[in-house]
Amino acid sequence: MFLSLEGLDGVGKSTQARLLAAHLRSRGGEVVECREPGGTALGERVRSLVLDHGAWSVGPRAEALLFAVSRAQLVAEVIRPALDRGAWVVCDRFLDSSVAYQGAVRGLGPSAVREVSLFATGGLLPDRTFYLRGPARTPASPDRIEIEGAAFHVSVAAAFDAIAAAEAERFRVIDAVGSVEDVAARVIGALDA
Ligand code: TYD
Repeated sequence: MFLSLEGLDGVGKSTQARLLAAHLRSRGGEVVECREPGGTALGERVRSLVLDHGAWSVGPRAEALLFAVSRAQLVAEVIRPALDRGAWVVCDRFLDSSVAYQGAVRGLGPSAVREVSLFATGGLLPDRTFYLRGPARTPASPDRIEIEGAAFHVSVAAAFDAIAAAEAERFRVIDAVGSVEDVAARVIGALDA
């Protein structure tokens, strides 16, 4: 079973992904955790190309393709083999981040970016996606995308709202405001709902 977590920067996805994985492990069975971009040797190099503040520029189309490269390798090297073994996979961000950030907000078009991403994953989509809905928080050292202003994050939030509404079967919208424990309980409650 393939689970992904989505949401704005700093909303607590990574913490919740870790807690969800721990919960699944306590039920027994193998759990594989991954994050995007990255999660493979190639993906970590791409992560640095697309997120670091470097002496190179990254246009919107190149940005979408770089995320797709990282995703393609993650699926081939980690996610597909894990699913084939019958493991749970918990992924911190997946294709919906590209649809929201590059498709909707960078203006490339949600459906075009979704198609590129589905090519990268060989058609693989999560079985369930938890959208942690809450305000963005910019970290102390923001990456190349997190450094965008408040208007950018408002657009990302609107994009996630639209994606979640369009795919209500796959998505579970989780109120991410509250203590870590409260939000974790909501995620776990939505697991079987
Ligand atoms: P991430 O490592 O999840 O940062 P954080 O844990 O701080 O939320 O993601 C890094 C940035 O990359 C984040 O701003 C979202 C962006 N991103 C995209 O724009 N498109 C994508 O497909 C993915 C996976 C991430």
